[in-house]
Amino acid sequence: MSKPLPCPKRCNVLLIGGGGREHALAWKLKQSPRLGRLWLTDPSNAGLARLGQPCPHKYDKKDTFRLARWCDKNDINLIVIGPEAPLAEGAADALADQRRLVFGPSRVAAQIEADKSFAKQLMRQAAIPTAEGRVFDHADSARQYIEAHDEPCVVKASGLAAGKGAIVCDTQAEALDALDRIMVKREFGEAGDEMIIEEKLVGQEVSVLALVDGRTIWLLDPAQDHKQVGEGDTGPNTGGMGAYCPTPVLDAETLETVQREVFVPTVDALRREGIEFRGVLYAGLMLTPGGPKVLEFNCRFGDPECQPLMARLQGDLVEILWSTAAGTLRDVEIDFDPRVACCVVLCSGGYPGSYEKGKLITGIEDAEALSDDKGLVIVHHAGTTINHNGELVTHGGRVLGVTALAGDLQSARDLANRACEKIHFEGAFYRHDIGDRVLVRCKA
Ligand code: AMP
Ligand code: GLY
Repeated sequence: MSKPLPCPKRCNVLLIGGGGREHALAWKLKQSPRLGRLWLTDPSNAGLARLGQPCPHKYDKKDTFRLARWCDKNDINLIVIGPEAPLAEGAADALADQRRLVFGPSRVAAQIEADKSFAKQLMRQAAIPTAEGRVFDHADSARQYIEAHDEPCVVKASGLAAGKGAIVCDTQAEALDALDRIMVKREFGEAGDEMIIEEKLVGQEVSVLALVDGRTIWLLDPAQDHKQVGEGDTGPNTGGMGAYCPTPVLDAETLETVQREVFVPTVDALRREGIEFRGVLYAGLMLTPGGPKVLEFNCRFGDPECQPLMARLQGDLVEILWSTAAGTLRDVEIDFDPRVACCVVLCSGGYPGSYEKGKLITGIEDAEALSDDKGLVIVHHAGTTINHNGELVTHGGRVLGVTALAGDLQSARDLANRACEKIHFEGAFYRHDIGDRVLVRCKA
């Protein structure tokens, strides 16, 4: 076996992706004494653009050769891939080279997120606790199954569907409608070639993310996000309206169970298939009365979970990501700020439905100026850009992630909300109740 590449003292990094998660990663990478040049494939995000230089090529699965050649010429040592889509398309395989490493799993390893039926089969073989479910590749057999079962269920497109492919159904009629949308109307395109019907689990949802270098698994502090758009967890699902880390709903003992019963057997089962997972393995778990069960795996950092994680992470992110990609994760120290981080997402009016772009954004400096010796406010950009007049404007549904770091969740949430009040753009809205699942429970 060849010796792992040591992390260079000056590491030139190319970051693929342009959302809030990538701004948070770039923000933390910039704090590393090892960072040489930081290049960006998606510099239209105004927050990201301030931190790096634009790479002349976007990631394009049909033309990875050009990007790889550009990396050669510009001495790129490490490529960090943020989103799942390029990973599922094989970006890590296409861009890795003897001279540079890629942070993010190979195409086959990314199937754990991109192909839910693959993930389900893997979990079944390795006896990993998950919802009981069945995979279907024909609408007729799925319909017969639904007609024969009258319990609440979740109907899921097997492929990538931008977080919208899981439909929670309380009645048979809803399940038949979900089947129709996925397999007949093909709302999610090819992602609906196969479909999963699984039992509906109840409990608190937790995001446990781990860095995995093929063998070593390093669990990060658990986080929780709020997917639904409305206060009190109501209304349609979004990419995520806010997240906090750590969460007390998963105690140290349960986290150890998750390590033993979920992460270790998953990484082992992948290895038995000849697949070495290197990158972030993210388990979306439901804490059921029968113990934690896996809802889904992702092969990348969560968005917005990444924002509070990066706000708390201590240590050198270049070295941490490098060691994960090099297979030397054992040798690095990863620590977290003991304070709690809470991220509240400011959105465009109308999101997750249609919304207008180009609204002038003001007040970010005032929001960050709320930082003091007890609390810190960090504003990460998700959907922003600079317009023709050089002004900062909205450019997406999720516009900004306002993260506050404070002594406890209540203080962090209050500070993030106060910071959000300082920021203005037409139609802006956010959820004021991020963390209530924990805060209300503690008060009860
Ligand atoms: P997924 O794309 O599989 O993560 O599902 C998206 C969301 O649907 C999850 O975050 C849960 O809120 C919900 N969900 C997925 N599977 C289940 C399940 N078996 N029981 C209850 N809720 C689920
Ligand atoms: N916050 C959920 C996700 O990133 O999938």
